[in-house]
Amino acid sequence: MCNSWESFSEEKSKVSKGRTSFQAESAPQLLGRIENEDNLRIPTGIAEFDRILGGGLIKGEVVLVGGEPGVGKSTLLLQVAGLISGNNKVLYVSAEESPQQVNLRAKRLKFNFDNLYIIDDDNIVNIYTHFEKYKFSTIIIDSIQVVHNPDIDNPRGSINQIRNCAEFLTRFAKTKGVSIIIVGHVTKEGSLAGPKILEHIVDCVLYFESEVSSHYRILRAVKNRFGSTGEMAVFEMTSSGLKEVKVLSDIFLPHKDNPVSGSCVSCAMEGLRPILIELQALVSKATFGMVRRRSVGFDFNRFSLLTATVEKRIKIPLAAQDIFLNVAGGVRITDPAVDLAVVCAIVSSFKEKELEKGAVFIGEVGLAGELRPVGNIAFRLKEVQRGGFIKCYIPKGNTKEIDNSIYSFDIVGLESAKEVLELTLGGKV
Ligand code: TYD
Ligand code: MG
Repeated sequence: MCNSWESFSEEKSKVSKGRTSFQAESAPQLLGRIENEDNLRIPTGIAEFDRILGGGLIKGEVVLVGGEPGVGKSTLLLQVAGLISGNNKVLYVSAEESPQQVNLRAKRLKFNFDNLYIIDDDNIVNIYTHFEKYKFSTIIIDSIQVVHNPDIDNPRGSINQIRNCAEFLTRFAKTKGVSIIIVGHVTKEGSLAGPKILEHIVDCVLYFESEVSSHYRILRAVKNRFGSTGEMAVFEMTSSGLKEVKVLSDIFLPHKDNPVSGSCVSCAMEGLRPILIELQALVSKATFGMVRRRSVGFDFNRFSLLTATVEKRIKIPLAAQDIFLNVAGGVRITDPAVDLAVVCAIVSSFKEKELEKGAVFIGEVGLAGELRPVGNIAFRLKEVQRGGFIKCYIPKGNTKEIDNSIYSFDIVGLESAKEVLELTLGGKV
């Protein structure tokens, strides 16, 4: 009974029995002799995806790719599957779509899928049986909400099924050295019978996200046992699949060379990576009774706080103004270091005055309008330099930690957002 599911569960119980009775079957190993994990990495061929993973997929690793329906999870993973299948035996378990549907998608992607195995089975015990026969090195499960374990009574998609299937797949990956990528749907409200409960089970959690109506997709690592978290990569959804975007300034800095009022450049940290982004504000007199306030890509509560700070501390009358804030390129920014840029964008739009060309604005803004120092200032300034900017406004508190001689642009350290605006817009604000 070697080719069956029972043999797998038997093997498992043997291991646990061994542990409790102190008859461990595994022998201690010398740490220095253990094969380096990098040797076990399988590069996927999509450089940005590999970077997020920490250098490629590791044998025995379980990766969860979460995201809203329609964001492009199946597209990304079909591309990954196609690329790895050139040198590895890969099984794509398409539990949601028929092989014909996947084939139609594959045709759009224009990859060579000749060596990729596909199956539309949703029973994970069967999937294990197929593994025993074909010895795949990588398995992609699309999606965890649809597969089920017949030994569990709960309906598919239920928390118990999802958790059980994920635990099953994780044991499977670890004992057999197979890398498994699991797709998990996340709903807009974040109410997810899925990814959240799986985060602690898997080795690596990637979220694939986009702002409404944007072609750009952002892949973020929120957990990674074999790499760093907080990394992000940008892809563009095209008519023939996802393309990596390597030069981010094209999408994130649309007005770099021709500034318009209300647009302001800042540098945010995304994990370990600094990115230059443009904040855009549109302030206009409200025509109907209620003023409208909206922010896209930036936390609404923080946006409201900053708006109130502008009113009170910089004395800009915003009460009767509609204010819209947008982060260019459809990215979501959580780094408070872009506060100063939000404030400057709002004031610039209100005054219909462009901010200085070639300037970057970095700093957290407190409720008194003061500029608070931000983390990773040296990383950010290097990115400002790389982007070819000529001036950077930063919090005074950050100036003592930087070595001015290594930057070829002006660095201006100030105490408050008001001072920045007076300098950059010229005269009193
Ligand atoms: P999909 O990968 O099915 O999303 P998910 O698996 O996350 O639910 O992506 C679906 C969307 O992507 C769909 O709206 C069509 C679009 N798309 C393209 O624009 N170009 C392509 O080449 C492909 C395959 C899909
Ligand atoms: Mg899908």
